[in-house]
Amino acid sequence: PARLAILLSGRGSNMLALAREVRAGVLQGLAEVAVVFSNIPEAPGLAAAAELGFATASIDSRGRKRSEFDAEVVAKLQEFQPDYIVLAGYMRILSPTFIRAFAGRILNIHPADTHQHQGLHAYEWAWENRLPETKITVHLVDEGLDTGPVLAQAPVDLRGAQSLADVERRGLAVEHRFYADTLARLIRGELHPQTPASTATALPQ
Ligand code: GAR
Repeated sequence: PARLAILLSGRGSNMLALAREVRAGVLQGLAEVAVVFSNIPEAPGLAAAAELGFATASIDSRGRKRSEFDAEVVAKLQEFQPDYIVLAGYMRILSPTFIRAFAGRILNIHPADTHQHQGLHAYEWAWENRLPETKITVHLVDEGLDTGPVLAQAPVDLRGAQSLADVERRGLAVEHRFYADTLARLIRGELHPQTPASTATALPQ
């Protein structure tokens, strides 16, 4: 099975969903959790991973220079020999050192269409603009903020949403299924990431 290093900074609901699919779902036999890592030692998601019996590691990023911090993280992750780095609410921009160490093997989930919205607060953006639909994007990570080649997108129906909490609930329900499904397809060799150019021509005008 492919070895996953799951990186998170907070709650860890996507990590828990992936763990569930690894143990008895679409990722069973395809992937295993090599380590769950956090840049925030007290992240609730890290404690949840330890409770599930996964190997965990953390290095506090606060007050650290990005390149030095990332070099340390790369060394730590390499101890676990991951095939894929799976960002799951990991709220850090990765340095070139990190990207090069795992080139083409770093995935992220972003709770919006990355062509329309990048960075934090994607659900707030969808709610404040009263979008009838938003998209969840799983993409490969490059050196930009949410700019890497898209692997797959899934729609979230927001019609009739009553609050930001409602938008988040609907979006997370999609995220939790979609991240594992997309990872399974990638591992099986069924996905071919779009280059930025082909993505642009595929977008509706
Ligand atoms: C998720 O909604 C994820 O898509 C988002 O943070 C949340 C983490 O929740 N990521 C980003 O906004 C990345 N730009 P979780 O810790 O419960 O998985």
